[in-house]
Amino acid sequence: MSEAESAIRPLVAGNWKMNGLAAALGEAAAVRDALPGLGTGAPSVMICPPATLLAALAAAAKGSNLEVGGQDCHAAASGAHTGDIAAEMLKDAGAAAVIVGHSERRADHGELDRVVRAKATAAHRAGLTAIICIGETKGQRLTGLTLDVVDRQLKASLPDSVSCTNTVVAYEPIWAIGTGLTPEPRDVAEVHAAIRKSLEARFGEAGRRIRILYGGSVKPSNAKELLSLPNVNGALVGGASLKAADFLAIIRAYA
Ligand code: 13P
Repeated sequence: MSEAESAIRPLVAGNWKMNGLAAALGEAAAVRDALPGLGTGAPSVMICPPATLLAALAAAAKGSNLEVGGQDCHAAASGAHTGDIAAEMLKDAGAAAVIVGHSERRADHGELDRVVRAKATAAHRAGLTAIICIGETKGQRLTGLTLDVVDRQLKASLPDSVSCTNTVVAYEPIWAIGTGLTPEPRDVAEVHAAIRKSLEARFGEAGRRIRILYGGSVKPSNAKELLSLPNVNGALVGGASLKAADFLAIIRAYA
């Protein structure tokens, strides 16, 4: 591990996606209550619930080590955008961060890199950390395009306002999301090394310190292996973040 990397505090973030009614707040409370017992090597821990639960979860997490994030934001601060949520509103509701450019948003809502970049800029404007997602499809992986695709997304999705505290990059191979499949550890390490190199080339010292998360079928059984790889500074966890016991088992990979 390089000196710069050992100075990075890892982040384990749960993306609940479109899951969770009010009763699910009990799972978040169980995570919150377990955090003080985790010891000094513990990562930062965040849950990104659906927008309907964000304010309630932020209230429940107040004064604890549990951070709360949104799953998407609009690029504008306010206006006639029915159904959308501004980064400022997420901040006002108690969020510290927002996921932007998740592959499900890119696929379901046609979000292009320039839209993702505008959303990340909005997050920075509002004082939120932008968790910017990138990752290749199965076809791109099979045809050897992974590094090209990831670098193109990285360059086009990150705004110039990036710093090591206001931005986290999440590498999520699309074919690994929700499938139980994960890349070989050496493939994860290869992509993360390429992301680090690109971040350093563009952002200098900050680029050495930006957290790069891995996401895609992270579970208790593979967390330790994936999270101990070089340049993997935490995880973005979908399905396994919905149950406190599983999410905590992943968080404890750092214990
Ligand atoms: P899974 O952990 O369910 O594969 O989802 C990963 C993800 O998309 C997190 O943003």
